[in-house]
Amino acid sequence: MPAISCSAPGKVILCGEHAVVYGKPAIALPVFNVKTKCNIIARPSASTDETLVVAPNIGLKCHVGCLVETHPIRTTIRLVLEHLKIDHLPVCEIQIHSTLPTAAGLGSSASTAVALIRALSTFLGHPFENEVVNQIAFEIEKIHHGTPSGIDNTVITFEKPLFFIKDAPFEFLSLRETLTLIIADSGIKSTTAKVVQQVREHYEQEPHRYQAFFDQIEEISLSIKNELELGNQKSVGEYLTKNHTVLKEMGVSCNKLDRLVSAALKSGAMGAKLSGGGQGGNMIAMVEPESANTIADALRSAGAVNAIITQIPAQGIG
Ligand code: PMV
Repeated sequence: MPAISCSAPGKVILCGEHAVVYGKPAIALPVFNVKTKCNIIARPSASTDETLVVAPNIGLKCHVGCLVETHPIRTTIRLVLEHLKIDHLPVCEIQIHSTLPTAAGLGSSASTAVALIRALSTFLGHPFENEVVNQIAFEIEKIHHGTPSGIDNTVITFEKPLFFIKDAPFEFLSLRETLTLIIADSGIKSTTAKVVQQVREHYEQEPHRYQAFFDQIEEISLSIKNELELGNQKSVGEYLTKNHTVLKEMGVSCNKLDRLVSAALKSGAMGAKLSGGGQGGNMIAMVEPESANTIADALRSAGAVNAIITQIPAQGIG
């Protein structure tokens, strides 16, 4: 059996994070500058009958049976086998390499799940349709994040700009103009599940205040969708910055993210906000292509540990 190789991109949330958990719309974009690659190599003559998993980014090198039963990689293998009604995986080596930082809001867990599901189903001779990949990746996201909205696995599976409402049919967005974004890492590791839980506690303590935040974000996301379709980037930028202000009031920003947002705006970005779970991880700045390098430098000077410039082509991908 030849070696199989499948990959999946990263993602950013353009707007609507947290509110999306409460049924409000959000927009997510695939990011192709970072990716997870999964190789599966058959080892029919291996001395042990156990599949080896090698994932250097998370310091993992062990046989599948040594992982706890609920481990995302072991669960992914089980769900793929169950879907195919196959009772065991032929002996192989699974290699997972990722250029996505973990716990940074770029979708590393969903990207790993999607690459692994694709590689396993292809290795077993039945490459899954995107719908099945997405469905299984969502189950894996639940292990990582508790009560995820499903936005990460969906945008990473379909690799297209996405307008997403939880539990509703999703919509691909047609961008009128190519977007240039800078994704800057605060260097602060943050756990999305923890921040989502914190928002839930605040919502329970102050339902009216938090409902008003979610309603404001809903309006912002709907306006951004509209402006993206019309190609009004300046206006999109202004709404992104408004979205950051609401997220800050909700307590999901932090000093470093606020500093990076200010630095991006001062150096000429059309708009900037935190992206993803918050309290660390990444922020995004929407910029004119000609000023991208200058603004990325300004972000590094303001303390970003990494700044990626990415473009999302007009009319989506492919
Ligand atoms: O931290 P990320 O990029 O995985 O984004 C999480 C987005 C939230 O809205 C905070 C949670 C979710 O499940 O949608």
